Amino acid sequence: MSNQPNTPSRSGVFQQSTDRRVDQFTESISFDKRLYAHDIAGSIAHAKMLASQGIISSEESQQIANTLLEIHGEIERNEFEFRIELEDIHMHIEQALIDRLGDVGRKLHTGRSRNDQVATDLRLWSRDAIDGLLSAIHNLQSAFVGRCQADMEVVLPAYTHMQRAQPVLAPHYWLAYTEKLERDYGRLVDCRKRLNVCSLGGAALAGTTLPIDRQDVAKRLGFDGVAANSIDISSDRDFAVELCFALSLLATHLSGWAEEWILWSTTEFNFIKLPQEFCTGSSIMPQKINPDVLELIRGKTARVNGNLQSLLVLIKGLPLAYNRDLQEDKLPLFDSVDTVQACLELAAPMVAGMEFRKESIASRLEHGYLDATTLMEFLIRRGTPQRSAHHLVGELVRTAMDRGIPLAELKLEEFRALDETLDDSVFQSLGVANALAAFESEGSTAPKRVAEQAKRWESKIANRHR
Ligand code: ARG
Repeated sequence: MSNQPNTPSRSGVFQQSTDRRVDQFTESISFDKRLYAHDIAGSIAHAKMLASQGIISSEESQQIANTLLEIHGEIERNEFEFRIELEDIHMHIEQALIDRLGDVGRKLHTGRSRNDQVATDLRLWSRDAIDGLLSAIHNLQSAFVGRCQADMEVVLPAYTHMQRAQPVLAPHYWLAYTEKLERDYGRLVDCRKRLNVCSLGGAALAGTTLPIDRQDVAKRLGFDGVAANSIDISSDRDFAVELCFALSLLATHLSGWAEEWILWSTTEFNFIKLPQEFCTGSSIMPQKINPDVLELIRGKTARVNGNLQSLLVLIKGLPLAYNRDLQEDKLPLFDSVDTVQACLELAAPMVAGMEFRKESIASRLEHGYLDATTLMEFLIRRGTPQRSAHHLVGELVRTAMDRGIPLAELKLEEFRALDETLDDSVFQSLGVANALAAFESEGSTAPKRVAEQAKRWESKIANRHR
């Protein structure tokens, strides 16, 4: 053929090749090559549809599919040559096909554009990424839930404003994290549902005049249906934003957990011992065992949140339909997925391997008046209005604080000053063990409630279809 253009996207309208600086500036192959498997799967489905519609012959479609699989193998084995003048993964694969099949290869791009192609690839890639993330979330939840039985006797102070508030069972903490992760899980499942529609067939932006069958392609690629509007298809990156948002919130949850465990592992708290395989040393201070992994889980949240911001700013104000700006969607998306996946994979063994410093926790548990609210509710049950009980117990705490003793060490007469009908039974509401046992409400840290919740989670985790 005379005058074949130097790359598949440069039609006969061009009389000159691109400036080298343009190749360098506009390439995306350096980061979109990781879409190769999804790009090839999309192309094979497309070629098969073209054949079943009689647009190309079934022999041609077979040749295309076989050659695409050959290319797949070469990329996988690192035998494939990438060069920036071919811009992106789509053109690399198409050019390799043309190099091997000539005119048959030139037929693959029939009824399709890179605009619907890249969107399809990204949907397929995101779908797999979500599956990986879901199983990593599941594993982290398993690690938390897996601790519950063994930690059922461990009582911890819980904090509001980082001030000691009320006593809770350690598994109550574990299930709190598990609930947050479950919402993250649900958000990813939702995102997966919404993204699972096929973009192919939208072509550049208006569709195609050729008799393609979009439903057929969608079915072949495991999509639930087709995206409805070709202009929307060409420009839509909502799924990428949603995925990045779900990951931002997930990373934010992990950052809070990481911060908590960093504090708990300090000499000042001395609540927990982190597994040494997940700690690092200091190059100058020999005594240091540093929680660097937790710090980085906390720190990497910044990048993940930045990625979400990048995507939102990227699509802000973009007119319909495809604009080259959209090529910049991949780096933040890939980075958020990689980062959060890695955080989850490190969090799970850390959760499983953490050891409590039980004596240290127990020795200071009576500090901080963790039973004050229980005493207040004891008075409420006997008829004192809440506001009055709140005030009176506050005064009593002040008295105990001044003497440096816990509430349980005050004399009965001192309690009688609050309510002269009080008898010895008041002591049953005092002390951390009593305070904890007194909880009742649904969702509370009452041992019975926590045990129920732990059981519910154990069976949920065991029965989750994966
Ligand atoms: N490399 C491009 C991207 O990732 C592929 C789509 C290009 N489409 C186009 N009309 N130039 O967005």
